[in-house]
Amino acid sequence: MRRFLLLYATQQGQAKAIAEEICEKAFVHGFSADLHCISESDKYDLKTETAPLVVVVSTTGTGDPPDTARKFVKKIQDKALPVDFFAHLRYGLLGLGDSEYTYFCNGGKIIDKRLQELGAQHFYATGHADDCVGLELVVEPWIDGLWAALTKHFTSTRGKEEINGALQIASTASQRMDPVKPELSHIESRVELLRLADSGRRDSEVQEQNAMNRGQSSALIAESEPSLTHSVPPLSQASLNIPALPPEYLQVHLHEFLGQEESRASVTPVDPVFQVPISKAVQLTTDDAIKTTLLVELDISKTDFSYQPGDAFNVICPNSDSEVQHLLQRLRLTDRREHCVVLKVKGDTKKKGAALPQHIPEGRSLQFILTWCLEIRAVPKKAMLRALAEHAAGPDRRRLHELCSRQGAADYGRFVRDAHTGLLDLLLAFPSCQPPLALLLEHLPKLQPRPYSCASSNLSHPGKLHFVFNVVEFLSPTTMEVLRRGVCTGWLATVVASILRPDTQVSPAEGGPAPAPEISISPRTTGFFHLPSDPAAPVIMVGPGTGIAPFIGFLQHREKLQEQHPEGHFGAMWLFFGCRHKERDYLFREELRHFYKRGILTHLKVSFSRDAPVGEEEAPVKYVQDNMWLHSKQVARVLLQESGYIYVCGDAKNMAKDVNDTLVEIISKETGVEKLEAMKTLATLKEEKRYLQDIWS
Ligand SMILES: Cc1cc2nc3c(=O)[nH]c(=O)nc-3n(C[C@H](O)[C@H](O)[C@H](O)COP(=O)(O)OP(=O)(O)OC[C@H]3O[C@@H](n4cnc5c(N)ncnc54)[C@H](O)[C@@H]3O)c2cc1C
Ligand SMILES: NC(=O)c1ccc[n+]([C@@H]2O[C@H](COP(=O)([O-])OP(=O)(O)OC[C@H]3O[C@@H](n4cnc5c(N)ncnc54)[C@H](OP(=O)(O)O)[C@@H]3O)[C@@H](O)[C@H]2O)c1
Ligand SMILES: Cc1cc2nc3c(=O)[nH]c(=O)nc-3n(C[C@H](O)[C@H](O)[C@H](O)COP(=O)(O)O)c2cc1C
Repeated sequence: MRRFLLLYATQQGQAKAIAEEICEKAFVHGFSADLHCISESDKYDLKTETAPLVVVVSTTGTGDPPDTARKFVKKIQDKALPVDFFAHLRYGLLGLGDSEYTYFCNGGKIIDKRLQELGAQHFYATGHADDCVGLELVVEPWIDGLWAALTKHFTSTRGKEEINGALQIASTASQRMDPVKPELSHIESRVELLRLADSGRRDSEVQEQNAMNRGQSSALIAESEPSLTHSVPPLSQASLNIPALPPEYLQVHLHEFLGQEESRASVTPVDPVFQVPISKAVQLTTDDAIKTTLLVELDISKTDFSYQPGDAFNVICPNSDSEVQHLLQRLRLTDRREHCVVLKVKGDTKKKGAALPQHIPEGRSLQFILTWCLEIRAVPKKAMLRALAEHAAGPDRRRLHELCSRQGAADYGRFVRDAHTGLLDLLLAFPSCQPPLALLLEHLPKLQPRPYSCASSNLSHPGKLHFVFNVVEFLSPTTMEVLRRGVCTGWLATVVASILRPDTQVSPAEGGPAPAPEISISPRTTGFFHLPSDPAAPVIMVGPGTGIAPFIGFLQHREKLQEQHPEGHFGAMWLFFGCRHKERDYLFREELRHFYKRGILTHLKVSFSRDAPVGEEEAPVKYVQDNMWLHSKQVARVLLQESGYIYVCGDAKNMAKDVNDTLVEIISKETGVEKLEAMKTLATLKEEKRYLQDIWS
């Protein structure tokens, strides 16, 4: 069989799932994929690899490759490598990203660029899939085209590889192949796609069609609008191309035992985990503010946890207890929730490279696994819908087939992806669906810890760590009346409820301090968002809303440094902060005034986006970037003449992009150059690490 090497680099599991899909489909197309996580460097060697290489890589952080690819990237970025180091390699790369982030698919782009620089050549054009609009829009055609590209590669290199070896191919520049473009080589495999309209379909499918017709005739009368559970023509009458059923690979046993104390620390065995008490919790916003912002203080004095202002750290959080109980109930497993889950890979599985999921620890109870290990709110991928359909009947089954079919792509986008529909929502919406536990364990991704920026300095708060967050709230996709909270922020809000006090109240609530609840945290190793090493360099900080968090740490740090070195030369510090209402969500108002009075903060520019102008007053500026524009001259001077630094923190979706555009305009106006030239200047600032972003959507 024609072999290729298949590597994936994932942060949250999607790249891995896609690589596994490629691996399974490869077999059907007459190829054999050698599948590995890119971090398993002992299992492959690109230097001597003669087979074509396929890489699926996502992006994390601010345009970074996933943590699992860090070592790989470091290795290939070694400047001592010769330009023909990978000249023998032929590869195809699928990048995953989200266009809401500034550096779209940058993890893939970094690897792609470096492989090219080292002489590797594409046998198949790179795909960039966008999670913002649905990865499948690019992933599906990219995978479809891969087989033709691989076939072309093997046809044109057959013999040469075997006879001459890989290095000889590399030395023959004239043998360069034009990479196949995914959209040109789109081939539809009837083997991998089951056409429901085909003759000879199984009885259950015929029944399903009948049930669908029955369901349809009544639905046509009742509803003309599509919904999660209901489709309208032409989809409701279409023959469907649905994906092949993902092979089952886990065998689950529930044993009635439990002895061991259930520690959540074992959930993330890779990073050190610290269990720390919450020593303080303060509500920074008034009760009538649009969002509720909380500050939490952690007591890290009895741990080895250390941080610098600008660092972020992970909070290990559980799923909502009521959702876990609801799920157990719906799965008819409530009475077995304390049972110990024992997993084995099915001996007869057709899944290639099947292995036990690393994020599900051994010997834990079912309730523990659903609470601490699986993202039960994750939006189900089409493969999961396909698997769920096998355990549903009648119109439910048909609708689940529609939602994972090619024809139902728009409905999937609208009612599943964009509506953030989770597994529990689906199970409630499709009552006939009764999946086995194994299906959930095979398909639900790892529950990720949530990162938060440190909002304090260890110099001013020794042994303490502060962070600030909004309690995320949204309406449930299926029952719009139900308000849901974010997994982590909703849980944190509950955890701190007993010790929470308003911002105005300085000492703990009357009646003595309540016992301090504990949470688990772990360090993040990607710290880059730090104050300049030269304290004389001027600094501009842009952080609306909770984006102000790291800058409070910067300012506290600078205050202590100035106290310790009264003769020292310290550069100007500008802060552009924005919130909605001066009297409701002006976070750290008193602390900022204190820094300003003491001359730590030399310029404080605040905008209120929803306050009406008072009396005859001129319309106040709305957003941080409007204030930056008002101070264009000073901003340009700091960055272009005084070798200063600009830091942006907060929302990636709109704010960071708009601030970036404003900076381009400021540079263009103040230096009299065209926009393109101004963009280049900004890019240089980024390269010099004088324009730093810590952004998130
Ligand atoms: C490096 C870094 C630093 C960060 N620092 C901070 C910080 O200092 N402060 C801070 O507040 N945040 C910070 N974040 C973001 C933080 O990690 C979390 O993502 C955030 O707190 C939300 O977590 P959650 O678990 O409560 O929400 P989740 O449950 O993960 O929900 C995530 C988002 O999806 C949306 N959503 C989910 N389900 C639905 C639905 N059904 N309908 C509509 N919308 C839905 C919500 O609006 C929400 O914003 C940071 C992120 C990074 C990467
Ligand atoms: N290190 C990090 O990566 C980090 C740290 C902290 C927070 N965060 C993330 O950053 C986000 C901040 O949320 P938040 O509620 O605190 O603040 P927010 O929702 O961004 O709102 C803060 C202010 O910004 C305004 N705003 C809206 N659109 C804007 C735009 N295009 N340009 C400039 N300002 C704009 C808002 O005004 P209107 O609403 O009136 O339009 C409001 O006045 C969250 O998603 C949080 O998770 C990330
Ligand atoms: C914390 C975080 C940071 C991200 N940063 C970026 C980014 O900078 N650029 C980008 O294109 N996509 C970014 N993404 C989007 C992911 O790359 C995208 O959702 C991808 O499908 C995730 O694949 P994975 O599950 O294999 O990690 C980010 C996602 C998260 C959760």
